[in-house]
Amino acid sequence: MRRRRRLIYLLVVSVSTGLAWGTLSAAQAPSEGAPVPPRWSSDAERHGWIMDVLMPWMERFRERYHNVPRSDGEFLRWLVVATRRQQALEIGTSNGYSALWLGMGLEATGGRLTTVEIDAHRVREARDHLKRAGLLDRVVTVVEGDALKVVPTLKDTFDFAFIDIGPRALPFFQVAEPKLSRGAIVAVHRPPFPGALSDLLEALKQRPEWLVTVVQTGAPTSIVLATRR
Ligand SMILES: C[S@@+](CC[C@H](N)C(=O)[O-])C[C@H]1O[C@@H](n2cnc3c(N)ncnc32)[C@H](O)[C@@H]1O
Repeated sequence: MRRRRRLIYLLVVSVSTGLAWGTLSAAQAPSEGAPVPPRWSSDAERHGWIMDVLMPWMERFRERYHNVPRSDGEFLRWLVVATRRQQALEIGTSNGYSALWLGMGLEATGGRLTTVEIDAHRVREARDHLKRAGLLDRVVTVVEGDALKVVPTLKDTFDFAFIDIGPRALPFFQVAEPKLSRGAIVAVHRPPFPGALSDLLEALKQRPEWLVTVVQTGAPTSIVLATRR
């Protein structure tokens, strides 16, 4: 009888531990707690929800995911709209924050974004955020892998590239360059570290076909802009 009770006790303990573990795993699932989108009646309403609800929620985790500051996101969206970009490439998706800004801009121009991220967990999060925003696969495609290997295999020619990969971006610019059209614009996010992007800026000096400027968007970071003339 005692043995039977002991067995029942062990069974109850293992089932509840399993349930607790399941709950814990679910709690650790990507984007857990992200706002649930309402039913939208227009794209303008959806964009409003992205900017007023989804993005402020993501901005709480900005440091963890190394996202661009909001001012840089706004600038990127403005840039793709003002210059009517059609085929954009992003290197360094993280959880999809800058891809949301670019995606909204490209939705307005009828364009598309391909964004590449090496970290599988971040890829899942980015897809989840973009899906909530109604942009996944319709406007933005997230590709998982090492951009240095993935970009050379992409079929498209791009008229815009956003490289956000940290202080050493030259190898990523080099793999993107053959895929860029004449008149393409390349934006490279410059973190606020001394010497950040010095490799790229030096290399661009040797390429007179690229016209370069640096834009301070109001954040401590800046954006290096280059266009192929
Ligand atoms: C600065 S974060 C990008 C932030 C993102 N653009 C945003 O603002 O939301 C850089 C990302 O590049 C990814 N990364 C690093 N090396 C990579 C590589 N070789 N190929 C693709 N992604 C890479 C990192 O995992 C990281 O998520």
